[in-house]
Amino acid sequence: KDERTFLMIKPDAVHRGLIADIIKRFEQKGFKLVAMKFVKASEELLKKHYEELAKKPFYNGLVKYMGSGPVVAMVWEGQGAVLTCRAILGETDPAKSKPGTVRGDFSIHIGRNICHGSDSVDTANREIKLWFKDEELVDWEPEM
Ligand code: CMP
Repeated sequence: KDERTFLMIKPDAVHRGLIADIIKRFEQKGFKLVAMKFVKASEELLKKHYEELAKKPFYNGLVKYMGSGPVVAMVWEGQGAVLTCRAILGETDPAKSKPGTVRGDFSIHIGRNICHGSDSVDTANREIKLWFKDEELVDWEPEM
């Protein structure tokens, strides 16, 4: 199996009508979508997702904001998916992200940074398990 990563379009991007623009960039690059759901995440799920940040001063605000509206949770597959999808997203801080990246093009605020991407293969595996059941991951190949 090729490498997989977990991406999540955040409530600010959904609210601003950016879902299609964001998905398009990962499709165009050549990654394969293997799972996607549109959900208003529970506080419990978001706390688990961000458990490593529990001691950060912005943690409570982050969890509250991420639960303020729906998100698009996705699994994307392809060679080097974790690092390359992070490169497509740009830096965590949109102000430091180059034009041409998702955050560089669509945001100026670190607390409203458009889309989450797993930072390692281990994190990706943990996040995919947290957000999706095994049977929600679609096994498919493009017709040749
Ligand atoms: P994300 O990729 O979802 O992973 C952790 C999130 O915490 C990050 O994107 C930011 O949205 C948020 N974050 C990181 N640093 C700060 C900060 N200094 N202030 C507010 N939010 C932050």
